[in-house]
Amino acid sequence: MPKPVVLITGASQGIGEAMAKTFAKELKGVRLALVARNASNLQQVERACVKLGATFVCDESDSEAVAEMAGR
Ligand SMILES: NC(=O)c1ccc[n+]([C@@H]2O[C@H](COP(=O)([O-])OP(=O)(O)OC[C@H]3O[C@@H](n4cnc5c(N)ncnc54)[C@H](OP(=O)(O)O)[C@@H]3O)[C@@H](O)[C@H]2O)c1
Repeated sequence: MPKPVVLITGASQGIGEAMAKTFAKELKGVRLALVARNASNLQQVERACVKLGATFVCDESDSEAVAEMAGR
């Protein structure tokens, strides 16, 4: 069975960044999907995480972009 996905929105800075780093370090048996618009900041967070599923550059105010992200 595939590991469940924890999708963290607003992961490029602030509370979301802190959640991503903490979950990557402490939460076992899951994959992380990090979402925000700023790809550069998101990549910096990704590099700081010790394990990671994927990152998604997405404007969450755009419903089509959110649906496309959910599909991926
Ligand atoms: N900090 C606090 O003490 C506190 C207390 C209570 C509640 N809150 C609430 O908790 C939330 C996060 O707070 P924060 O301090 O971490 O805020 P922040 O530093 O401004 O971070 C907001 C995050 O949301 C992302 N984001 C904003 N609009 C987006 C959009 N349209 N699509 C995708 N991503 C979007 C930003 O990334 P990109 O710009 O890269 O997209 C960023 O990663 C806010 O709603 C805030 O009101 C914060």
